[in-house]
Amino acid sequence: MEFLKRFKPDLTISSPGRINLIGEHTDYNLGYVLPTAIEKIIELKFQKNSTSSACRVYSKDFDKGFEFDLKRISVSTEAWENYVLGVLNEILKRTDKVRGFDCVLESNLPLGSGLSSSAALECGIAFGLNELFDLKLSKMEMVSLSQIAEHTYVGTQCGIMDQFASVMSEAGHVILLDCRSLEHQLIPMKLHPYKIIMLNTGVSHNLATSEYNVRKKECEEGVAIIKEKYPTVESLRDVSEKMLESCKLKMTDIVYRRCHFIINENARVLQAAKALQEGNLEVVGQLLYEAHEGISTWYEVSCAESDFLVEFSKKYIEVLGARQTGGGFGGCTMNIVHEDAVERFVQEISDAYKKRFGIELSPFEVRPSNGTQVI
Ligand code: GLA
Repeated sequence: MEFLKRFKPDLTISSPGRINLIGEHTDYNLGYVLPTAIEKIIELKFQKNSTSSACRVYSKDFDKGFEFDLKRISVSTEAWENYVLGVLNEILKRTDKVRGFDCVLESNLPLGSGLSSSAALECGIAFGLNELFDLKLSKMEMVSLSQIAEHTYVGTQCGIMDQFASVMSEAGHVILLDCRSLEHQLIPMKLHPYKIIMLNTGVSHNLATSEYNVRKKECEEGVAIIKEKYPTVESLRDVSEKMLESCKLKMTDIVYRRCHFIINENARVLQAAKALQEGNLEVVGQLLYEAHEGISTWYEVSCAESDFLVEFSKKYIEVLGARQTGGGFGGCTMNIVHEDAVERFVQEISDAYKKRFGIELSPFEVRPSNGTQVI
């Protein structure tokens, strides 16, 4: 794009991806999650371009860019543009201070790998424009408008976890977030002598958006049935196993299974947070394995590749736990591995994965990191 020749950024933002230690699909059921940002980031460079409304965005990774006018924002047929446009659409509802700008993106965060590159982009755009034009949006407003952008422009009816983790994380901690009240607590993630090793399956099955929205609907169906008997119930967060069992015959097996998973997953988040605070990593690891079992057989958002990796990890006493992280249908598994065994584990599991699926596994270590920031 022409503007790149004269691009002199006024501002650089680092916007991170996230892992979620445990608590999958609980956020839109108003339950608990335990995520943190990681050092895999999208870097966004911004400059004002002294026009009133002409904007240009270029992605170095795609070697692609697009232009738009602030006065005519609408949904694009190019999926990735909607993360930017959706955020702009929300920001413009809240302020008239935005003017023409240019933005260059560069990322080391693998896309579609369950590490929330979408939230990183949305929040990075919101954060950058907030700084560039002094919009005075609070962090929570940026989190919330980025989530709405994902609903309206991208089409995923996501919960709040990814955007919250991308913006609010602090290095060395996971966030225990109550997705109903948005109360949160930073819990130190003391893992030594263990490390978090991510294994990128290299697959992201197309089901991610459509099936995600189907799961959300199934949970809502469950809530509607349970509410007939227990009128104060607003979400699966308010439902105990006993209450669910008493309504089991009124719902389809699928709806029952989805609700069952969410209720148990919420309980696991609280158990994992407690175990982490007590330094009991064995318990955390065990909960990760249980959570994967739930994701795979009760909630059915796993896939053969992720299941294979988690099963393989179970052979190692040096691996305390493993599970697929993120929305599902591929992406990464997260493994808690003793530092002395990392090299051997990664080598052996990569060989086995290549043999089974013909795909090169991409392993990398992650550490809990800071949320979106100016650099
Ligand atoms: C995606 C969504 C999140 C959350 C996870 C599953 O990442 O964006 O809101 O629901 O899936 O836990």
